[in-house]
Amino acid sequence: MKQKITDKFLSLYGEGGTMYASAGRINLIGEHTDYNGGYVFPGAIDKGIMAMVKVNGTDKVRAFSLDYNEACEFGLNEEDKPSKAWACYLFGVCRETIKRGGKVKGFDTVFAGDVPLGAGLSSSAALESTFAFAVNEEFGNNIDKFELAKIGQSTEHNYCGVNCGIMDQFASCFGKKGSLIRLNCKTLEYKYFPFNPEGYRLVLVDSCVKHELASSAYNKRRASCENAAAAIKKNHPEIDCLSDCKRIWLDEVRGEIPEEDFLRAEYVIGEVQRVLDVCDALERGDYETVGELMYQTHFGLSRLYEVSCEELDFLNKLARKYDVTGSRVMGGGFGGCTINLVKDELYDAFIAAAKEQFAAKFGHEPKIYDVVISDGARKL
Ligand code: GLA
Repeated sequence: MKQKITDKFLSLYGEGGTMYASAGRINLIGEHTDYNGGYVFPGAIDKGIMAMVKVNGTDKVRAFSLDYNEACEFGLNEEDKPSKAWACYLFGVCRETIKRGGKVKGFDTVFAGDVPLGAGLSSSAALESTFAFAVNEEFGNNIDKFELAKIGQSTEHNYCGVNCGIMDQFASCFGKKGSLIRLNCKTLEYKYFPFNPEGYRLVLVDSCVKHELASSAYNKRRASCENAAAAIKKNHPEIDCLSDCKRIWLDEVRGEIPEEDFLRAEYVIGEVQRVLDVCDALERGDYETVGELMYQTHFGLSRLYEVSCEELDFLNKLARKYDVTGSRVMGGGFGGCTINLVKDELYDAFIAAAKEQFAAKFGHEPKIYDVVISDGARKL
């Protein structure tokens, strides 16, 4: 990838620039908790985005996406928003940097990635973090890493139409080889947990389905949670977000909010606790408990939060049948992957069955990715 980027960069702009990279992410547990001020437990992976960047002395960004084989040039004012969706991520990062008082001028770039799109591995956060990091370095802005993650998140909010939480951008900025990171999304305190479950493997099974409307359904989930939290706050003014709420406080408002919002909130309150329980279990080396909690998350995401789909429920059930220790839909949902914690000796049988039985039912094989926990945003 590095060579291809360099070759293209040289052919387009004559001389080389500096190479930056960032990563996609997995999340062991803690889904849809980030925008509720709860805990998440992600890590960066060995699939990511790489970009060569060089300041060009103009007021224009000249970008080339190798994966789309497309060029796009845009200015840096609010009215210069490009029409190509991929370029909006770069534009958003520049604009959000400027809004924070950072300097951004024209630059040339060529980039490419190997994070599968729509698989729930946050290819967009990888793209945002790569450029947030690159722009910060190239223009000497000295913006700290948390703010770089927030630049990516605000890009999603203001230029891409997704009201996401901070998890993905956090993971791709703070990722560290071999470690998962537990983040408290309210206080932004975080802790690295070395993750090397001996005797087990972490594997993603990608259904390769991607549901349109995923971003509007995502925004709708978020609105439901905020609605439930607002109702609870009337009785308990001390709360800031849904993750501060006790389960019994939710019961108090059951008749006052739509049942759908109640179910969404029920899932979130349970999930925040599950992250803490998983971390405790990990510290004891108790992977069976970790796995059981993953199955509970899947149940909640499927039945209460309703972000699973037939294909993912099928993969989850199949995992149970093949004695996989833990399995659940990962990321925003509405397609993408399941994440599976599986004993070494059961791995081959599970993967073979997943491929064969999924293909028999849905007409195509799922893709399999072994997880390697890696570093996040960096200059190469
Ligand atoms: C997407 C969002 C994240 C998070 C997850 C669900 O990946 O970008 O902020 O909400 O969904 O956990």
